[in-house]
Amino acid sequence: MPTKLDEPKSTKTATLTFDGRSAELPLVTGTEQETAINIEKLRASTNLITLDPGYANTGSCKSAITFIDGEKGILRYRGYPIEELAAKSTFLETAWLLLYGELPTSAELEGFTREVTAHTMLHQDFGRFFDALPKDAHPMPVCAAAVGALATFYQEPENDQRLHETVVRLMAKMPTIAAYSYKHSIGQPFMYPMNRLAYVPNFLRMMFGVPCEEYEVDPVFARALDLLLILHADHEQNCSTSTVRMVGSSMANLYASIAAGISALWGPLHGGANQQVIEMLERIEAEEGSADRFIAKAKDKNDTARLMGFGHRVYKSYDPRAAILKKTCTEVVGRVGGSQLLEIAMRLEEVALHDEYFVSRKLYPNVDFYSGVIYKALGIPVNMFTVMFTMGRLPGWIAQWLEMRRDKDFRISRPRQIYVGSPKRMYVPLVDRG
Ligand code: CMC
Repeated sequence: MPTKLDEPKSTKTATLTFDGRSAELPLVTGTEQETAINIEKLRASTNLITLDPGYANTGSCKSAITFIDGEKGILRYRGYPIEELAAKSTFLETAWLLLYGELPTSAELEGFTREVTAHTMLHQDFGRFFDALPKDAHPMPVCAAAVGALATFYQEPENDQRLHETVVRLMAKMPTIAAYSYKHSIGQPFMYPMNRLAYVPNFLRMMFGVPCEEYEVDPVFARALDLLLILHADHEQNCSTSTVRMVGSSMANLYASIAAGISALWGPLHGGANQQVIEMLERIEAEEGSADRFIAKAKDKNDTARLMGFGHRVYKSYDPRAAILKKTCTEVVGRVGGSQLLEIAMRLEEVALHDEYFVSRKLYPNVDFYSGVIYKALGIPVNMFTVMFTMGRLPGWIAQWLEMRRDKDFRISRPRQIYVGSPKRMYVPLVDRG
């Protein structure tokens, strides 16, 4: 059902002057006083377009889902501070909040949990799908392909009821697909979901259990992973979320749009940074190098090393997710008897936070600085880190897709360009080209 997002109000305008002419452009101001110049009518009235590589200054949509203030280190889902949700919510409850805009009542949460639990199995023919992929396949493209393949099993037209089923299926089957992608890569039998278990324990059992043994879920591990999923659940218009919206804007179905989002997340500049943090920490450990020595390398402009897990395009203060994870990291690592990697990470942070280079550039730990150490302590292999991110980001992607498709101002995404290629020229026959 189409809905109209609250129209941000402002009576102010900005004036653009060029070639002796001027155009009045309306300003729009959001709930938190963020202001934008609305250029929807710019081309029609002036024949000009804007150029913004990487979209760093472009608001691609109005959204009521997530608010970030990078200067102040604020992250809120539907108005709720991430710290509150991290301390008091669960991943499924947070998913509902993102999807439907409000915290669920107990009946709603119970119903949603029941529905998600009832759809965790994959169609038996998926076995053949996994068999067809190389044994050493990276789990991320396996997940993207498997989610895309879901569209071949559920081909009904996307009305409101079907869409609800698709949302439930995606939420339910993603942990199964994630665990299967891992089992496939290590040659172990797939574990069927066990529906008496909650969302995260079920995943941990499918991931680490084997059919010939009992698997006991460690509640500290389960809570840590649930927390990681909450912290990753949405982050407004990042690369993968924008991809999901872009693909969905062509009226491609939800499975296809999410599969595209997974592919976007796979890239090292987006979802892959925590892997690089672990590799950095392991390198420092292997070389018995000191944190101080590495910090000196990261500051040296003649050295390509960067302090991975530090700095952020949006956050110019401590990433609130990193602050939450630091505490959990100590708890989980304590459970497995300590970790040299955590000690190195904490020393790196201490040195960097007192170093003029990092302070003056506003470089603070981001979410990836501690998440990799936690995944390592949970026994999750490095090539599965981005898959964990996928499981967490799923409700955010879906919520953003639904918001876009239900907005009555919805249009296909179709940016323009400034052409810098050859001017018009005539075709030269092959024999005349030398
Ligand atoms: N170590 C050393 N120097 C750094 C670092 C770092 N981690 N990050 C930025 N700088 C320096 C950079 O060299 C530049 O210095 P100068 O002004 O002297 O040229 C200045 O700080 C500004 O950096 P930038 O590259 O222009 O900043 P950006 O906003 O384009 O990049 C970033 C942000 C996250 C890509 C970058 O900080 C970085 O490469 N960090 C390490 C990788 C990382 O942790 N990525 C994960 C991001 S969080 C993912 C998520 O939220 O999903």
